[in-house]
Amino acid sequence: MSVTCVIGLQWGDEAKGKLVDLLTDEHEIVVRYQGGSNAGHTVVTGGQTYKLSLIPSGILSPQVQCVVTGGVVLNPASILQEIDGLCGRGIKVGNNLMLSDRAHVIFPWHVAEDKAFDKSCSSGENIGTTMRGIGPCYRDKVGRSFAIRLGDLYRSDFGERLAYIAQAKNEMVGPLMGPPTPEAPFNAAEIAREYEGYAERLKPYVADTTTYLLDAAESGKRILLEGAQGALLDVDHGTYPFVTSSNSSGVGASSGSGLPGRWIKKVIGVVKAYSTRVGGGPFPTEQDNEIGQHIRDRGNEYGTVTRRPRRCGWFDAVAVRYTARLSGVDALAVMLLDVISDMAELKICTAYEIDGKRVTNFPSHVDDLRRAVPVYETLPGWQQDITKIRKMADLPLNARRYLDRLSQLAGRPVDVVSIGPDREQTIFAERKA
Ligand code: IMO
Ligand code: MG
Repeated sequence: MSVTCVIGLQWGDEAKGKLVDLLTDEHEIVVRYQGGSNAGHTVVTGGQTYKLSLIPSGILSPQVQCVVTGGVVLNPASILQEIDGLCGRGIKVGNNLMLSDRAHVIFPWHVAEDKAFDKSCSSGENIGTTMRGIGPCYRDKVGRSFAIRLGDLYRSDFGERLAYIAQAKNEMVGPLMGPPTPEAPFNAAEIAREYEGYAERLKPYVADTTTYLLDAAESGKRILLEGAQGALLDVDHGTYPFVTSSNSSGVGASSGSGLPGRWIKKVIGVVKAYSTRVGGGPFPTEQDNEIGQHIRDRGNEYGTVTRRPRRCGWFDAVAVRYTARLSGVDALAVMLLDVISDMAELKICTAYEIDGKRVTNFPSHVDDLRRAVPVYETLPGWQQDITKIRKMADLPLNARRYLDRLSQLAGRPVDVVSIGPDREQTIFAERKA
């Protein structure tokens, strides 16, 4: 009996996809339980690169059952595109994929609202969303009046309900969108036809995943929960309002999947050996200079979904200690260590100074985080290629010292170190069960 959970501990893009792929062989079921097509998970396997967004990375292993739960917001066109792309490359997508009938569906007005409202309530800085309609769909989910779930697409009143919502959206969102465009005003009849087409194609995958997962957990199946985004983007506990609209830290795993916390036996927290962030919001250790550019170039730090250059900076141990605690992390996976291999010195942020006061707890208000001046500790680099190393003990002494310090500051052991995109470029600590 075991449920393992993989959670990003920074602002997303921690290379969770690679770790999930590595752990997939040990599991029977892989689950995506929050977020939507704002996620971009890259998996390199058998010399092939796969970019997944909504479908769990487990799909690349045909024996694994993949589940997308009701905590996810689902864009039918993008999931069908993903299914077609995978099938076109010879990957089986059939009864090994299950989509929750409770998942909320993204409609054209959600994408339009994302574009029209991407302003935060803090200093006029944009949230910088992925424009996939994620926030507006979650807003309608919580608001209830204008929400449609996947299971609703198959009900006889779907057309009527859609007409009611489209009219309300035209009245509310239309004026904000300016002159009529090909997207707006929204034409209910056209949208209904389009979505009925999607519904027909998605029908074989639609199921009650909550009951399925409860049965699976109770009968001792090995389940892997694949978190999307990162804990600092958690809507309740992250750098609000510069966050995504779901609970992307470990505390969201239960509500998103429908599996009570008692089943979750292990949580692996995934971090980069440095920090990145896409979109707006404060980022205390950001290096908006040649150091950041160097990391961006070596780490190919450009968004998978939007291709935006990622903001890059030093490892922030104040933030990671917080998110490791918040997510109930047992052990860390440190990814992309190879990216910083050629640097002479490395900095780790061990505290913040806010208005002259030294702080080691992560601030709850974004304005305090904006004023936080990082207190750094400087460690010597190792300046040698580590991409062919396969054992922890063979890493250069300074690389081990760097990892030890991250681990000590985060208060968690390092179980996995990644030193390149391939599966083989992974080092497991001896203690791994
Ligand atoms: P993966 O799973 C990195 C960021 C966006 C923006 C904020 C809100 O690949 O780690 P949204 O479209 O979700 O409303 O945007 O969240 N964001 C991500 N950043 N990786 C992701 O996913 C992200 N998903 C959302 O850039 O700042
Ligand atoms: Mg991403």
